[in-house]
Amino acid sequence: MHEIEESESMLNKLISRRDFLKKTAIFGAIGGLGIEGFALEPRQVAITNTNIFITGLPDDFDGFKICQLTDVHHGPLISIKFVEKVIEKANQLKPDAFVLTGDYVSSAPKYIRPVINAFGKLKSPYGTYAVLGNHDHWEGEELCIRNFKRNKIPLLTNTNAVISKRGSICIAGVGDYMEDTQELDKAFKGIPDDMPRILLSHHPDYSEEIPKDIRVDLVISGHTHGGQIQLPLLSLAPIVPSHYGQKYLNGLVKNDKTQVYVSRGIGMVGIPVRFSCPPEIAILTLRKRETALQV
Ligand SMILES: [Fe+2]
Repeated sequence: MHEIEESESMLNKLISRRDFLKKTAIFGAIGGLGIEGFALEPRQVAITNTNIFITGLPDDFDGFKICQLTDVHHGPLISIKFVEKVIEKANQLKPDAFVLTGDYVSSAPKYIRPVINAFGKLKSPYGTYAVLGNHDHWEGEELCIRNFKRNKIPLLTNTNAVISKRGSICIAGVGDYMEDTQELDKAFKGIPDDMPRILLSHHPDYSEEIPKDIRVDLVISGHTHGGQIQLPLLSLAPIVPSHYGQKYLNGLVKNDKTQVYVSRGIGMVGIPVRFSCPPEIAILTLRKRETALQV
């Protein structure tokens, strides 16, 4: 009797120890994911490099590097110190030009001036071009316009800029898909048919609405933040703010109108977490499309 009681109590001890180890492992994993997602990954900025093939690209733009910064969301979760570090890193990459594709602030208008002043420190041979995102409209469109003007950064709301060497390319922009108008005719006004056309649109969903008779060679977007939380190895996110589900999660996407590059962006909204979806400085290198071999 005594022996049975003893072995039962040993068994109970073993089970409770196993239970304890199991619980420790689960809580450890959750804790680890928490530290990774809340404390580490949001500060680990990844630099991505993508070749973008464009038909008819002038020879002297083959290899032209565009650096995209988007969805910085300076505010309670993203300090100006962190933004300045990102800008310093972006300058070190020595791109030919910068594009800024919206959502620079979160939560209050007081964040607008410091973040746009920080963008004024971006240096490249062919300049910086910007459009606004939904959060910029929510916190103060006029204040954004004034600050971009003061920092001599063209805001391409339904208008364009031409970058010229011997050949030329056009960088145009449309108003935010949620809070403004998109006038593509106006955006490409005066641009010859054969000039490569790059369009800045904060929201990638607009790319699905490009009229069939207007050619756009590349759309550069942000907005989705890559979902902020992705399932490792699957490149799937539980939440993507797009009508097209996972399609415009991140990276280079081709649709039946054009090709779209969607950056994961720098900042965060909602839950202050990034998991398997680090912040991104995107380098897009323009390449001449190789012509198909004639047989
Ligand atoms: Fe955003």
